[in-house]
Amino acid sequence: AHEPLDALIAGLAVDVPDFPTPGVVFRDLTPVFADAAAFRRMVDGLAAPALSDPRAAAVADGRAGPGFDVVAGVEARGFLLAAAVALDAGTGVVPIRKAGKLPREAIAAGYELEYGTAALELHTDAIHPGQRVLLVDDVLATGGTLGAAISLIEQLGGVVTAVSVVIELTALGGRQRVAPHTVHALWTT
Ligand code: PRP
Ligand code: ADE
Repeated sequence: AHEPLDALIAGLAVDVPDFPTPGVVFRDLTPVFADAAAFRRMVDGLAAPALSDPRAAAVADGRAGPGFDVVAGVEARGFLLAAAVALDAGTGVVPIRKAGKLPREAIAAGYELEYGTAALELHTDAIHPGQRVLLVDDVLATGGTLGAAISLIEQLGGVVTAVSVVIELTALGGRQRVAPHTVHALWTT
């Protein structure tokens, strides 16, 4: 019998007070990524909601596939997860990057996060109209990051079939910010 995934993640994650700024408790997931069994189960858990979401099937329109056509991940920690999920599912992976990193024509969306402001960018040809996108990141805090990522995907005509994170920090209200999209969290705290 497996330890529940939320307990496994909670047991491996490390709380770091006052990082990167005073008053923030930073949830460091690097030990969870470094644990082979936890990493395997995280990757499975992040993909699962996109496989069961009825929209995934509704949009599929006869296409075979895993319930999503591509996985999008947010720089930087989301990249670790998105690439693993995509490889496992047999899809490609699309990077949503911090401002100024993408070399070709891109769209941008600004947002606020727990400890500052930032902008995300997406190549305009990275997502095609009607493409089903599984969006993944490590942490849902204020929801600013995922909100911006969703807006970029939808501006290009992508259909966000699921949004998955490892940790949801409920105190910061991110779930409300990302609504009407539902966020699937492997550990809610
Ligand atoms: C962190 C985290 C999420 C985001 C969540 O990334 O990886 O992407 O913050 O916060 P929010 O819900 O308040 O937007 P960060 O911007 O620190 O960048 P990093 O992944 O490059 O460390
Ligand atoms: N991203 C935003 N807030 C965070 C936190 N408290 N810990 C880890 N990543 C975060």
